[in-house]
Amino acid sequence: MKPRIAIDGPAGAGKSTVARAVARQLGLAYLDTGAMYRAITVAALRENIDLEDGDALGRLTRRLQLDIQSGEDNQNVIFLDGENVSEAIRLPVVSRGVSYVARCPEVRDVMVDKQRQIGARGGTVMDGRDIGTNVMPDAEYKFYLTASLGERARRRLAELTAKGETLELPQMISEISARDKIDSERECAPLKAADDAIHIDTTEMTTEEVISTIVHTVNGQ
Ligand code: DC
Repeated sequence: MKPRIAIDGPAGAGKSTVARAVARQLGLAYLDTGAMYRAITVAALRENIDLEDGDALGRLTRRLQLDIQSGEDNQNVIFLDGENVSEAIRLPVVSRGVSYVARCPEVRDVMVDKQRQIGARGGTVMDGRDIGTNVMPDAEYKFYLTASLGERARRRLAELTAKGETLELPQMISEISARDKIDSERECAPLKAADDAIHIDTTEMTTEEVISTIVHTVNGQ
């Protein structure tokens, strides 16, 4: 079976870009699990569901049809009841709400089931918060990416500015640290490095350096 690779870490550590490139270079599939929680958040916001109402979020999640396909450049293309929501899931309003949705056990049960089914096929790079600890605890390789809060906020800001959003760095720093707090303090599968994960502090590294560190580790070089 081809290897399973778990890449976890806080928001803005560069997981998605790195995981996608690693998957491409190693000929593996890529799953962005954060995108799945974001898609549920899009639906919840559209239906005006209270993001603190776990029962309602659970019912919504069980009712929705969530499909993930591999698109251009190995990007995940996310369909919600047949509609492509790949752009909507990146809106700032979704980023602000998603941690509330992702901390809800009823939502996580459904998402984690789906992620495990995909992981069971092998040959997958998955990025998220609980992949090494909970979704694929027996993955062959586990990485935990971090970077300083300021650097993570700068990276997220650069992504959003490129899309025409106008946000200031102090606001981005406070949004990211609020998300980190909810993600790491929640009861259900919080953000946490697996005991056997390889830690990579990416603050001073280029994306290419992070990618090649992971690829070389997997290739045993
Ligand atoms: O990686 P991201 O920013 O797209 O993640 C969106 C949210 O989903 C974030 O608040 C953390 C949460 N998440 C999670 O709880 N578990 C995962 N496996 C992936 C993401």
